Parts: sequence; C-alpha cells; structure tokens
Amino acid sequence: MLIAVLVVVSYVLGSLSGSLLLGRLRGVDIRTQGSGNAGGTNALRTQGWKFALGTVIVDVGKGALAAGLAAIFAAPAARESAILLCVLAAVVGHVWPVFHGFRGGKGAATLVGGLLVAWPWALPGVIGAWVLTLVITGYVGLSTVIAGASLLATAWGFGEGTPRLGFALVASLFLLYTHRGNLSRLRAGTEPRFERARIFAR
Ligand code: G3P
Repeated sequence: MLIAVLVVVSYVLGSLSGSLLLGRLRGVDIRTQGSGNAGGTNALRTQGWKFALGTVIVDVGKGALAAGLAAIFAAPAARESAILLCVLAAVVGHVWPVFHGFRGGKGAATLVGGLLVAWPWALPGVIGAWVLTLVITGYVGLSTVIAGASLLATAWGFGEGTPRLGFALVASLFLLYTHRGNLSRLRAGTEPRFERARIFAR
C-alpha cells in the first residue's frame, strides 16, 4: 500500500514542470515555441540560459526528491524496487503532467535527478555518453537516446540484478519513445543542431 502512495506522490511531483511553471511567471508556454518540448533544451533554445537553468534545477530536483522520499519511507525489504518505481513515476509525471494538460517534456532531466539518488554510479557513463554524442553529432535528442542506451549497457555490463536491469530497460525504451519525433526529424534531415553561440548570446 505504501509503495502505491509513494508512486502516486512521485507522479504528482513529476507533474510539476520546471519550464511550464517558470513560463507562467514569464507569460510564455514553451510548448508553442522551438521544438515544442517542455524541457531544458527547448527552454535554452527559446528563453535563454537562466530560464533553462531554473527549468533543469526543478526537473532534476523533483526526480531526486521522488527517489529520496522512497528511500526514506519505503520498507527496507522493498526499498530498491520502490525507489526505482518512484523515479519512473516521476518521469511519467514529467511527460504526462496532471497540472499541465498531460503535455510535458521528454523525461531526461527528471531521470537524471532520480539516478542521482537511486543509482549515482551509473551517471558518469550516462553523462559521458551524452556529452560525447553531443560533441560528435551536435544533436541533443540523439545524445539523450544514446545516453539512455548507455544506462542499459551499464546495467548489463556491471551484472546488475533484475530491478536495475528492468529499470534501465524501461527507462531506455521510454526515452526512445519520447524522442521519436527527434529521431523522425533526424531521418528527414530537419532536426536542429545545438547552436551554442546563438543560444548563449542571449
Ligand atoms: O531532453 C530533451 C532533449 O533530449 C531534446 O529536446 O527540445 O531538442 O526536442 P528537444
């Protein structure tokens, strides 16, 4: 029963979208701009680095908070699975937020926040894969999909047990699903590259 409560709380926390809440303060809805995604990359692309930083802090923070609450309140016997389930619930909340018409972001920053608490030693490989792909290709969406695949490779390579392996499989497939538009645009040659100079000139 308590795990169900923690999962619902995590979903509600995940539904607090950084970019959409900050956007309300500024009078903008970034879902109508740029890629249309309610996430850090589109916040940086359309609103500048300060707005994007605030977005990422909220989106990473809520993933970490969901995992932290599960770590504190779940029964010891079920703690690992509860934490991983709550991270996924927060990611689902971010993608389909109850407070924002069920149209949110793609879940990467919230997943990273959850990993910070649930599985921090997986992060160097995941972030390394993301940075390397971004430097080589210039595509943020593709980098995020590759980073998701690297989480699965990490779980597999380090012989993790069923909970983490299952979590990594679900998370990597989920990122593939939420980035399906980016992958279609890549195939069509219309996916924009990360434009550092223009974005940081704001
Ligand atoms: O996490 C979102 C990022 O991977 C892609 O964002 O705005 O380019 O679709 P965007």
